[in-house]
Amino acid sequence: TVADLKGLKQGQLRLAVITTAKYIIPRLLGPFCQLYPGIDISLQVTNHELILDRMMNNLDDLYIMSQIPDHFDVNFQPFLENPLVVFAPANHPLAKEKNIPIERLGEERFIMREPGSGTRSAVQSLLEKHGVKVKVKLELGSNEAIKQAIAGGLGISVLSRHTLLTDAAEFSILDVQNFPIKRDWYMVYPAGKQLSIIAHTYYEYLLDAAKKITEQGGLIPDYNSAEA
Ligand code: PGA
Repeated sequence: TVADLKGLKQGQLRLAVITTAKYIIPRLLGPFCQLYPGIDISLQVTNHELILDRMMNNLDDLYIMSQIPDHFDVNFQPFLENPLVVFAPANHPLAKEKNIPIERLGEERFIMREPGSGTRSAVQSLLEKHGVKVKVKLELGSNEAIKQAIAGGLGISVLSRHTLLTDAAEFSILDVQNFPIKRDWYMVYPAGKQLSIIAHTYYEYLLDAAKKITEQGGLIPDYNSAEA
């Protein structure tokens, strides 16, 4: 039977994913492990630059990231969107405003991810493109820590909308021009590499799971439409 065949898949799956993927990948691993009880998993969660290092050193079977490496030949497959949005506390004065000019961000205290973060480089290139300088009050190496700092009133930041999946009520997403920064999550592996049967099984599983999520309207509820 099919179940017997699935039981035959034994071994280890080594995944390394960028920080924003931790809001969805572990959840999707539950059903995967039920389908394939013989597969054990290691999951590394880290920033863009450290994912690149791991890929160069061939430490994992499969990578999830939002920006395809420039200087390294890879196979890649987008599977879900990963937009970056402007986060502020729920009671922020700009929360009710529409179409806020991007220059306005220069007047706010800003919280920025650490060097090496893909979120940080995406935010910096958008700000540079529009000649906007922000006052970085605080630099933090964790999306969750940034959310706590925002909730604590330390400033505003730009984060993946997925980081809001569990606690949307504490935050507002500001309607700033040129946002969201549109990005996707990609499954990536080195171009010369043959995926193991197990990694290939996961690859197909994740594509299929993502397709179902997209068909059901995506992961991301439209928080701001709830305010009315
Ligand atoms: P980061 O990546 O953890 O390197 O910021 C997250 C992302 O690019 O979505």
